[in-house]
Amino acid sequence: MSDPDDRFLEITRRQVLETGMVVTVSGILPVTALAQASNSQPLPENGVTVQVSFQINGHPMALDIDGRASLLDMLRERLGLVGAKKGCDHGQCGACTVHVDGRRVASCLTLAAKVDGREVTTIEGIDGADGLHPMQQAFIDHDALQCGYCTPGQIMAAIACVKEGHASTPEDIREYMSGNICRCGAYVGIVAAIEQAAPQIERG
Ligand code: FES
Ligand code: FES
Repeated sequence: MSDPDDRFLEITRRQVLETGMVVTVSGILPVTALAQASNSQPLPENGVTVQVSFQINGHPMALDIDGRASLLDMLRERLGLVGAKKGCDHGQCGACTVHVDGRRVASCLTLAAKVDGREVTTIEGIDGADGLHPMQQAFIDHDALQCGYCTPGQIMAAIACVKEGHASTPEDIREYMSGNICRCGAYVGIVAAIEQAAPQIERG
């Protein structure tokens, strides 16, 4: 089966950053329709079906899921929210970072059943009516990526890093972003982007 991300392969990485996140939002956000469709998918045999109700990017959602499913798999495979990436699936790379009740989590290590009653935010849900989130814009301004695979997780972790109060110095940023690996080594740009966006996020 082809990866849903394949459609982006012919797009330049700048276009991915500028439009990929936005297109993902506008392309995805009939999440209710997606959920209705995905609720009709057969659940795996031998699993325990669990009902979960939660907010996803500000939208109410109710799903029947396999009780063993990770939050990452539910987002990508049931809701079509493919911004969060499966890098290692072992909590070691940060590519799958999303927010649950405003706190960053590795969605590959989080049981989907545990988000019942909670608010989940993914990269597809952070831009506002007036355009990109300041952290997205800062990543563009500092060219803080090469292949872009780690970037959604980096941005979600970066927003949390600022809100946690750990973005006052480059050393602090490096320490509190150390759970997010970039195989392309775009760390200099990432730190610069966080320094740029931090004041706007703190004010917000
Ligand atoms: Fe979750 Fe690597 S995919 S930390
Ligand atoms: Fe390629 Fe980070 S930009 S892994």
